[in-house]
Amino acid sequence: MQSKKWWQNSVIYQIYPKSFKDTNHDGIGDINGVIEKLDYLKELGIDVIWLNPVFCSPMDDNGYDISDYMDIAPEYGTMNDMDRLIAEAKKREISIIMDLVLNHTSDEHPWFIESRKSKDNKKRDWYIWRDPKTDGSAPNNWRSKFGGSAWEYDERSGQYYLHVFSKKQPDLNWDNPEVREALYEMIHFWLKKGIAGFRLDAITFIKKSDMMDDFPSDSSDGLSPVDIGTLNQPGLLEHLHELKKKAFNQDIFTVAEAPGVLARDLPDYVGDNGVFDMLFEFGHVDIDLDKDGKWYKPLDRPLSGLKKVISESQEVINQIGWSPLYIENHDLPRSINHFLGQHVDGPIPAKLLATFYMLLKGTPFIYQGQELGMTNVNFPSIEYYNDIASIGQYKQAVEEGYSEEEALKTIWRRSRDNGRTPMHWDNGNNAGFSEHEPWLSINPNYQTINVQNNLTDSNSVFHYYRQLIQLRKNNEVLLHGSYDNLMPDDKDLWTYTRSLGNEKIIVILNFSDKTVPLHLPSPININETPLLIGNYSAENNEPMETNLLRPFEARVFQLKSEN
Ligand code: NOJ
Repeated sequence: MQSKKWWQNSVIYQIYPKSFKDTNHDGIGDINGVIEKLDYLKELGIDVIWLNPVFCSPMDDNGYDISDYMDIAPEYGTMNDMDRLIAEAKKREISIIMDLVLNHTSDEHPWFIESRKSKDNKKRDWYIWRDPKTDGSAPNNWRSKFGGSAWEYDERSGQYYLHVFSKKQPDLNWDNPEVREALYEMIHFWLKKGIAGFRLDAITFIKKSDMMDDFPSDSSDGLSPVDIGTLNQPGLLEHLHELKKKAFNQDIFTVAEAPGVLARDLPDYVGDNGVFDMLFEFGHVDIDLDKDGKWYKPLDRPLSGLKKVISESQEVINQIGWSPLYIENHDLPRSINHFLGQHVDGPIPAKLLATFYMLLKGTPFIYQGQELGMTNVNFPSIEYYNDIASIGQYKQAVEEGYSEEEALKTIWRRSRDNGRTPMHWDNGNNAGFSEHEPWLSINPNYQTINVQNNLTDSNSVFHYYRQLIQLRKNNEVLLHGSYDNLMPDDKDLWTYTRSLGNEKIIVILNFSDKTVPLHLPSPININETPLLIGNYSAENNEPMETNLLRPFEARVFQLKSEN
């Protein structure tokens, strides 16, 4: 049994700095904007901020292409601003965790600039260089995550370098001990500044396969997903254990973005013998991914997939480790449209989703704007999009024969820019985000969905999140109680309990847009049981009927001991 840790009863708020709040009027959010809004975050009740990358970067992938790990991108501010953010957050008992991008750097990082100078440069082996095939083409047919070959040719030295992501994100060679030592040194630099831990980016990609052969292609471009030779390769865990020993050897918190880890392998990654405190799993956010893992298709009834995947993960967490709970981040569409449909909006469905995931076992992450019920945006053409992945997907879809209209529709549903449009602070100019035209267009619905309206309306999504956070903090059973899925086959309802000793809480969720009957399995009885929280407020309430759940209704009860 794992001992209890501070981060288990924390709530983490994720900030995408570029879109959070601009204070120097250049249309780009900044660190001072985060400082300005700390009191807002305190009011929400969060304990930790996860700050997406703020390091120097040419911003090809919005900061995930780092050109200096130990300095701040000028558009976000200075190191003094960062130090002030850490100190100001601390005054409010908020800790900061930062993004750690260890798989790749920018091609403008001095290490890569050196490495590409010549074949015999001292830093040549810091990245992954290979000779062309005899016909001059790329060493193999791997397709990068953002589309196109994962290899980029370098004229000067006549070799190719590997990039799992964009060609401006060359992959580091983790088999070189000097690379690893340089990264550990950088990690200690940040820890000395008093940050509380890290979110590790794409960490299961750091070890590459020794065999660099072609793989069977899955498409007309002749390429094959880069994952096959770069994700979860043998030898990965050895690198991770060294990272833990040499860089995470103090009381910090780590959460890893670790695609490709199977539930049965979780004990190698989390828990007392694992490497990280938590791992982001992808099953629930990828339920709309087709069987080949290539295109996202709309799902008629996402509930059954969602329930299955989450329940399986919660059952593992009942036994071992701990889980980050999340339904949104900077790589995902807005949850309300992702899980409930492209045309759904409004506070009730937003609160349903909040209830569903915030009361599971684990540490909840709230992505900026999620606490307002922000929705997807449908930009009129691909030119409005900034995200490198969306632009790559659009291009690939059109090349594969989809019409521009169909390709755009996929982007509407799945673009990472859905979650990256600027934060809505009020209904004024540029949604109160900036006095300058923002780097990415604002979602037109900011007039109604914004912080100002949410703060003044006591029935708002924001206030509901606050209440959920308090409910978690005041009920040990919601922190450490075990999870049970009560009606796994129900097509509309998700009903689960959390139990600890004699305490039991039941969470009842109607994922459909219709009123549906509720028949709880005996002996559970909620008659005359007071509601702990529900998403239909007193005002829009016809009296609650025990055996009927209204569209998207969520109700939570503390069960009496006989249940
Ligand atoms: C995962 C990050 O979340 C994403 O935004 C980024 O594009 C890739 N890793 C590459 O660093």
